[in-house]
Amino acid sequence: MPKITWSELLSVGNEEIDNQHKRWIEIFNTSYDKMMCDDYSLLSNIGIDALKQMMEYAQMHFEFEEKYMQQINYPALVEHKFQHDLFKVQLHKINQNFENGISKLNSEIMKMIENWLIGHIQTEDQKYKFFTTNLGNKDDSKSGL
Ligand SMILES: [Fe+2]
Repeated sequence: MPKITWSELLSVGNEEIDNQHKRWIEIFNTSYDKMMCDDYSLLSNIGIDALKQMMEYAQMHFEFEEKYMQQINYPALVEHKFQHDLFKVQLHKINQNFENGISKLNSEIMKMIENWLIGHIQTEDQKYKFFTTNLGNKDDSKSGL
């Protein structure tokens, strides 16, 4: 049973970004399943693999999303990018702890990632959806410019 399920409530109104969010949720769910099923002694390797995958995906996805926000002239791009950067630093620190043998993948770390992922898509990402929706409504007034 997947840990996170994508629903229309998470849609940001952009098909490509929605697909990327779905893929990211899939990566998270696969890592979660591995953590639950595999031997404790393998958790270091599972953790490093999972984090590496998540960091690579975050990098690609954030770049895409930031470019999109730039294209639509989203006014809160700097603040949004800051949230992305903070999360990248968090993932990097967790990964370092795994590589240095300080910690292993555990449910607390997965919960933190899950909360960030869902929280970010449901709040921060919805703000640019709201912006593009409002932009559509304002198109008439702009046509005279
Ligand atoms: Fe975002």
